[in-house]
Amino acid sequence: MAIKISNRAKAIKQSPTMAVSALANKMKADGIDVINFGVGEPDFDTPDYIKEAGKKAIDDNFTRYTASAGILELREAIAAKLKRDNDLICDPKDILVSPGAKASIINVLMAICDPRDEVLIPSPYWVSYTSQVEMVDALPVLLPTTISNNFKIKPKQLEERILELSNPKAIILNSPNNPTGSVYSRKELVKIAEICLKYNILIISDEIYEKLIYDDVKHISIASISDETRDITVLINGVSKAYAMTGWRLGYSAGPRDIIKKASQIQGHTTSCVNAMTQKASIVALSECDGSVTTMRAEFQKRRNYLVEKLNEIENVKCLMPKGAFYAFPNISHYLTHNTKGIKNSVELCEYLLENYHIAIVPGMAFGAGKYVRFSYANSMDNIKKGVNQFKKGLMSLL
Ligand SMILES: Cc1ncc(COP(=O)(O)O)c(C=O)c1O
Repeated sequence: MAIKISNRAKAIKQSPTMAVSALANKMKADGIDVINFGVGEPDFDTPDYIKEAGKKAIDDNFTRYTASAGILELREAIAAKLKRDNDLICDPKDILVSPGAKASIINVLMAICDPRDEVLIPSPYWVSYTSQVEMVDALPVLLPTTISNNFKIKPKQLEERILELSNPKAIILNSPNNPTGSVYSRKELVKIAEICLKYNILIISDEIYEKLIYDDVKHISIASISDETRDITVLINGVSKAYAMTGWRLGYSAGPRDIIKKASQIQGHTTSCVNAMTQKASIVALSECDGSVTTMRAEFQKRRNYLVEKLNEIENVKCLMPKGAFYAFPNISHYLTHNTKGIKNSVELCEYLLENYHIAIVPGMAFGAGKYVRFSYANSMDNIKKGVNQFKKGLMSLL
């Protein structure tokens, strides 16, 4: 007799970004030359100076369990980074190192959410936020944004929505944003912080794309706005995106001591700690610099400029110039209503493009925005050139 799966597990959907990548990889394995715009990780190698530190940790037999919250030397390096880059004074005691920012977020959600607590999430949103909120039996409450507002929430909208809720607990802010690439300014963050302070809403500020920011835009950490704001913010960051270290698995949270302490205890009973050598390598990543982050950022910016320009040249496609991260998020709504193939939504469109034009892009529905698709430009310039051409051909074939 089959064992019954829990209702919690049943509610979880497979990550659609992973699903597209899996299908694209399968087609590749079958010998089909697919251009994969689905991936959410840098296509660069981890810089050598970081790899060396990881290798040295293994050679030094630094290979055992560590303190659950992370080794002190690493938490000190994170505190120094927060001071240097984000103008934040943070005691290492208020920092928790976890196996990826993804783990950091769910640890915090577990520490603060009771069943039916409401967690506000600006939409379009990163796919895991809603699933993670549901996993802790809390309720995701979406705050829709539009392209005309650069995909950013308005303070009035936030306040009105909070007033409609029964148990508003937290908001998950993500700047620079996945999938839209939008970045909040200091002025905008000040207004959001004021409202969160007024209603005692915890700000979970996911800043994982902090280093991937373009033009003259500056990343501001909402926690740095005032001491009061810092006291209601948990900052989330990690090494995955900035240092091309997705597989090493290290993220961190920094925030109010009681929340971090509880999140740390939760981690102590789940994953224990981040692997010891990754912690050593991350100290070097966060403290030293060989210019590779700047080189990667410059390359991403070049690709972004090319891709977005080409997307906007396609008739009836509109794409904002993303200010950060490595995604372009064009509006393709025209092709959902004007096509001869019976395609009705972004999922069907992406399947059609993958099967017939061999490009893997992620349907906007995955991010709560069905009229859009997401391209990752963590891809070679050659692939971007070929891929955007295929995209255009694919759209034209629908008419
Ligand atoms: C917005 C956002 N936050 C967090 C993460 C997770 O990063 P990590 O690899 O540190 O778990 C991702 C990864 O795609 C992301 O896009």
